[in-house]
Amino acid sequence: MLDPDPSHQVLPKVTSPESALLGVVDAVSLETPAETYRESFLVGATAFVAEKRLESTYAPFLGYDVHRLRREFGTFVWDLKQLADDSRLHSSGYRDHVFWLIDDGEYIGQTSIRPELGTAYLITYGGHIGYSIRPDRQQQGYGRRILSLALDECSRLGMDRVLITCDEDNMPSRRIIEANGGTFESGLTMDRAIRRAEGRKSEKDIQKLRYWIELRDRRR
Ligand SMILES: CC(C)(COP(=O)(O)OP(=O)(O)OC[C@H]1O[C@@H](n2cnc3c(N)ncnc32)[C@H](O)[C@@H]1OP(=O)(O)O)[C@@H](O)C(=O)NCCC(=O)NCCS
Repeated sequence: MLDPDPSHQVLPKVTSPESALLGVVDAVSLETPAETYRESFLVGATAFVAEKRLESTYAPFLGYDVHRLRREFGTFVWDLKQLADDSRLHSSGYRDHVFWLIDDGEYIGQTSIRPELGTAYLITYGGHIGYSIRPDRQQQGYGRRILSLALDECSRLGMDRVLITCDEDNMPSRRIIEANGGTFESGLTMDRAIRRAEGRKSEKDIQKLRYWIELRDRRR
């Protein structure tokens, strides 16, 4: 029987338009975090540490460094899944559905979907969707792919339109959002203090760019 909680479902394998044309089913999909992906996740996390971007995995936010991830990976996976629990609507104002991009059984990246936009930060700067690709697998088209799959998931969650944001100087992310149909709304100045609250060190204010993507068309 299908688990009614979308955060617990294993999504069907998705075929890219390119591989569909070739009649090939590729092995890229979004999956709920699971201990099965421990080894490749730890390789990815180590690569994120080298780039000082471990926050892309949510590990620091949940109180984990790489050593603790190695020791307590099962607990980390459980903590990630708890972010989507309904009880968080009361305690934090929003749920966060975390999925991992898996290619041929390997962890490639992460996307997180926040359907409620339940905080001032999310409404203004955070948006509905975040994503990251592990540094050693970037520039291979996975970024564009993870957002496309995340949009399918948003559609399944019943969302009609999504807000996605990125830093003005994050050209790869801008290209990903625009390739997935993002319509630019506005740019907002984000000061250093808010930036630090994001877990990023910043000496200067930055511009956050806000884009919207309509999902109704994807359901037809
Ligand atoms: C942003 C990010 C997800 C991109 O992932 P990716 O797998 O490299 O993305 P893709 O391979 O799909 O590339 C998307 C586009 O950016 C370009 N690109 C990617 N990295 C690039 C780089 N370092 N320099 C120049 N162009 C780059 C690609 O060539 C591609 O261009 P195209 O549209 O002309 O084909 C990844 O860099 C990342 O995880 N960054 C840290 C977290 C982050 O910034 N998340 C986004 C928050 S809004």
